[in-house]
Amino acid sequence: MSVGISDWGGVPASWNRRHLLGIEGLSADEITLILEQAERFRAVLMRDKGYENNDRKIPLLAGKTCVNLFFENSTRTKTSFSLAARRLGMDVVDFSASTSSLSKGETFIDTVKNLEAMQVDAIVVRHSCPGTAMLLAENIRANVLNAGDGAHEHPTQALLDILTIRQRFGRIAGLTVALVGDIAHSRTARSNIWGLKTLGANVILCGPSTLVSRHWESLGVSVSYSLDKILDRVDVFNLLRIQFERQVIRPFPSTREYSHLYGMDAGRLSRTKSDVLIIAPGPINRGLEVTPDVADGQHSAILDQVTNGVAVRMAALWMCINEKK
Ligand code: NCD
Repeated sequence: MSVGISDWGGVPASWNRRHLLGIEGLSADEITLILEQAERFRAVLMRDKGYENNDRKIPLLAGKTCVNLFFENSTRTKTSFSLAARRLGMDVVDFSASTSSLSKGETFIDTVKNLEAMQVDAIVVRHSCPGTAMLLAENIRANVLNAGDGAHEHPTQALLDILTIRQRFGRIAGLTVALVGDIAHSRTARSNIWGLKTLGANVILCGPSTLVSRHWESLGVSVSYSLDKILDRVDVFNLLRIQFERQVIRPFPSTREYSHLYGMDAGRLSRTKSDVLIIAPGPINRGLEVTPDVADGQHSAILDQVTNGVAVRMAALWMCINEKK
């Protein structure tokens, strides 16, 4: 059997957002709605029972067009958004900032308005400047999906992280999730904090004091400067990349010292809970945040996250473009 558009049903009536700009401000119900739709799309992608579509497609958005507007490098997010849009039947255009008229002095908003005049329906944007997605949403008619704005938010990354955790544990509430590493420069950290807290998880931020400020505690999370001290009470470790490209001053003396204090390796893994889950947004610096044996080991769900990324982005595109308002 294969599932078609007519079997799918509409966007849940309680969803009424045109854009996905961040996780901050989403309710637990809204987050759960996206996760549930993502589970259904994942079943199509994986050709699970009842969803045996041969081409892994469900063309709910056929005839619509999506532009990928990436001003920062990306492997997973860009490919995953493109695949998600194509699996939904959309046409996808990749915009290359470096070869565009931005280099001739055209403003960002003019560039985007020109793209919009070509009747595009959705814009997926990644930019080094926080607030870019919000700026676009305020200035254009198309649906805007934030694929990362500076160190601010990366909503689909958090959703795919949370989906991966929920698949493994069946819940988020009551779990203890540690975000380890470069909290100061990580948009993934911010989006994870909002999402995990909203769904009832306990969140610990762990890293050197130059990258994790005690001010974060005002968001209802706890802070630990010792990874060793929290190993035995954490259910999920989300190992965040050291964002060298965003750091103005190097926050630790050497990468060797960082991995010695905060790297997840086999020795540390052996002191964690027996069902601990290791996730990382990628890319990983093997040997720095995590050793290869742990990254590729049985506790790691790093590649499951990538699979879930396509499903989450299908859900986000479909729900925003077909919002019920
Ligand atoms: C993250 C990002 O770009 O913020 N990666 C990703 O989207 N897969 C995290 C990172 O770059 O470290």
